This record gives sequence, structure tokens and C-alpha cells, in this order.
Amino acid sequence: MRFATLLSVVLCATSLAAAFPSAGILARQDDDTSADTTADTSADTSADDGTVSDSSASSASVSTTSVSAIRPGCAPQAATRACTNPTVRKEWRTLSNAQKQSFLTAVKCYGTLPHSSSLVKTGSTPDIPPINPASSAYDDMVYVHIDLNHQIHSTGWFFPWHRFYLHTYEQTLKNKCGYTGPLPYWDWTQDTANFLNASIWDSNHNHGVGTWGTATNDYQITDGAWGTANPSPFYLNYPSHHAIRRNFTLQPYLNFPRPYLLTNSAQYANETFTQAMVDASVQHYTGDYKGFQKSFQDYQGPHAGVHLMVGADLTGLCPGNAPASCIPGETWSPNDPLFFMHHARVDKAWYDWQNRNAANKCAFEGGSVQMLDSLADYDEYPLGAPPNLSLNSVFPTDGILQSNVHIQDVMDTKGGYLCYTYQ
Ligand SMILES: *[C@@H]1O[C@H](CO)[C@@H](O)[C@H](O)[C@H]1NC(C)=O
Ligand SMILES: *[C@@H]1O[C@H](CO)[C@@H](O)[C@H](O)[C@H]1NC(C)=O
Ligand SMILES: *[C@@H]1O[C@H](CO)[C@@H](O)[C@H](O)[C@H]1NC(C)=O
Ligand SMILES: *[C@@H]1O[C@H](CO)[C@@H](O)[C@H](O)[C@H]1NC(C)=O
Repeated sequence: MRFATLLSVVLCATSLAAAFPSAGILARQDDDTSADTTADTSADTSADDGTVSDSSASSASVSTTSVSAIRPGCAPQAATRACTNPTVRKEWRTLSNAQKQSFLTAVKCYGTLPHSSSLVKTGSTPDIPPINPASSAYDDMVYVHIDLNHQIHSTGWFFPWHRFYLHTYEQTLKNKCGYTGPLPYWDWTQDTANFLNASIWDSNHNHGVGTWGTATNDYQITDGAWGTANPSPFYLNYPSHHAIRRNFTLQPYLNFPRPYLLTNSAQYANETFTQAMVDASVQHYTGDYKGFQKSFQDYQGPHAGVHLMVGADLTGLCPGNAPASCIPGETWSPNDPLFFMHHARVDKAWYDWQNRNAANKCAFEGGSVQMLDSLADYDEYPLGAPPNLSLNSVFPTDGILQSNVHIQDVMDTKGGYLCYTYQ
């Protein structure tokens, strides 16, 4: 198993299955249960979510597998609120320093909100740590991603679930931490040429996201609003107490555990998230959701490439003080709050693709069972094997995301359940 610590792995399943070939099968059995569209009857907590979604939540309580229940235009089946004044999500560097500071401060507030006792472990990803009650609401969000790792990557859940997850995060910043701005996104296409020294890495203690860590400090960042040298630093609690870790990694595909899913293991990660690479996904695959998602989610595509190049936390590698049982993988990646700014850019790519052609707007397909054990498996089921998901599938929540929200509720970012656009 320790062989896995050598690897820069995006998907936890990758290293896990490499060590335990049976683990993928276990995960599949678990996923079968949770893929049921009537899943998540556990705890209606919706506490972290806000006013925008309350009405749709209560009226969307009946889940159905009938396609006829889907309204034309894939509008939310239960949206009762109009979206008249959408929030405009903006690129990080277009914000003023004051706006940046208010966002960075709100994230630190999130890290001080208490753990929710409603958080439940579904076990759909094996060999994860127990819930840590001495953690924060931010850690709870990280834990949801840990627990659902095998369900939400390389399956049909990928784009819609992360959109739903980001929405919860944004609502919590607004409703619990007084944040009044939009969720910013990080357009990493601007940073490919000199990633190590890109302008996103700002050491300013008030309005910077910080720079990089060093080996002597286990890659924990010291600068920026979240670093250890800040008067109010930001700490994480999974899998162990640590500060945000970043470790520039130019060639993450060397020694990759699943070389059969790569085309060139010597590739520089910054070649995977150029504007040309984004365009190769977003400007193509008309009406072909599967083709679009696969091109974007491939290890050597934009989503994974950014995770892997930032290294350490965003890659999901285990901190030096983690228990020996820690298995690296994408599971831990929201530990770096940049995760949410990165995934907002990922979400924008889906949004741009959806809005490029009418045939894309409601396009959706995908299975619920991750298939990464061989190239043949992955090629046959890049979006997961059956049981299939549909627009009526209900998001897994682990007890703390809003219950009874369907995929179709997030298909339109201005559909009523959601109310935002991208600049
Ligand atoms: C990627 O980064 C390397 C090293 O900084 C640089 O030489 C190369 O030009 C970059 N590639 C792209 C596509 O920007
Ligand atoms: C990094 O970029 C800044 C400007 O953004 C520049 O002043 C500095 O010289 C650069 N450092 C390196 C090592 O390239
Ligand atoms: C940091 O990144 C380098 C590659 O740039 C890699 O060799 C090293 O193993 C990484 N260390 C950690 C702890 O992630
Ligand atoms: C699952 O969806 C795919 C399309 O993505 C379709 O070809 C296949 O027949 C479906 N399988 C089942 C069992 O419904």
C-alpha cells in the first residue's frame, strides 16, 4: 500500500485498486445502492444551504424515474422561484483587493464554523477515516468529498454533483459568513506559461491566496491570507491537522499508477489546461455529453492536470503527519480551498458548453459505477457503468448537503434552484 504514497493520484480509486484489486468491486457494490434515484432519505439538514433553495427542496420530495416528469428545457421540476438577478461569478483577478479580502476572510470563517452532527458516512468509498467531531464545517465539506469519492468521479455525477457542491459552499459563505460577493473562479488557462510564478500566487496577507510550500515544512504554505504566518491562519483536519499544502509538480504523470490511462507519461501538466485544451472540449462534442465529459475529465485533461500540478493537498497527497492508513487520492483535494475556485472554472466549462448549442443544454447521460481498472473498462464506460443516472437522480448528500435535489435542478444555472452566470 505504501507504494501509493509515491504516486500523484487524482482518483483515490486508482491507488486503492492498485493495492487491493478487490477494492473496486467492493466500491461497485456500495455504489449500486447509492445509485438508486431514491437515495438519501437520511437526515434533512439543508442547514448549510440557504434561502435560494428552500422552496424547491421541500416540493421536490417525490423522486421518480419517469422521464415524462422532466419538464421541457430540463428546467428544475420544482423550481418555484424565478431567477431574475443572477449572481455573476467572476475570475479571481478581476476582483478588487477589498473583494478578494472579503472572500478569503469568509473562507476562514467557514473554517471556524462548527462540525455538524448531521454528517454521515455512507461508506461508498472504502478505507476512509472516521468522522472527526473535533473538526469544522469546512472539514465536513472535505469529508463529504472523501466519502463520495468513488461515486462522483468518472461517473455521470461528476459535473452536476460538483455544481451542487459548489452551490452549497457558496450559500454557506453567504448565509453563515456574511459574504456578499460571488464565488470567484480561477482561470488557470491564463497561468500555463509560467505556472510556478503565475499571478494567482499572491503572498499578500490580506488579499492573496498564498504561494507554494517547501519540503522542509511539509509543503505547508506560510504566506497569503490562509498561510501559517498569517495572524489568523487556515487549518484542516483530514486526514490529520495541517495547513494548506502546495508542491509545484511539472511532470505528475511519471510513475503514475495507471499508465494505461495515459497517452504520454512524460507530459508537462501545464499542457493539459491551456485555452486550446479547454476549447478542444467546449467547442466540440455537440449534443455528445459523454464525449465532452470524457475529454475534460481525462487524467491528461484540464480538470486533473490542474489538480496534479498544484500537488500536495489539491492532488490529494497525504500530509507527512497523516496516519499510516492514509491512502492518497482526489478524495482529500478540497483541503486546499483553491479547489472551489478551480472547480468553478471546471463548472464554467460545462456552462460554456451547455450554452454553446441548444443540443447541449439538457444533454446528460452517465452511469454510477466508476470503471478505472483497465483501459478497456474506461473506454467502454468513461462516465461509469450502469446502473445509469438520469435527470431525475437525487444527489448524495452525506446528511449535510441539501436533500432531494435532482440532477435536473442544476442543469440550468438560472433555473431557479440555481441563479448564477459566469463572466
Ligand atoms: C509549461 O511549463 C514549462 C516549465 O515552466 C514551460 O517551459 C512550458 O513552456 C510550459 N508549457 C506551456 C504549454 O505553457
Ligand atoms: C515572478 O513574477 C513577478 C511578477 O509577477 C516578477 O517580478 C518576478 O521576477 C518573477 N520571478 C521569477 C522567478 O520568475
Ligand atoms: C513534491 O513534488 C516533487 C516534484 O516536483 C516530488 O518529487 C515530491 O515527491 C513531492 N513531494 C510531496 C511530499 O508531495
Ligand atoms: C445506460 O446509458 C447508456 C447511454 O449512456 C445506454 O447506451 C445504455 O443502454 C444504458 N444502460 C442501461 C442498463 O440502461
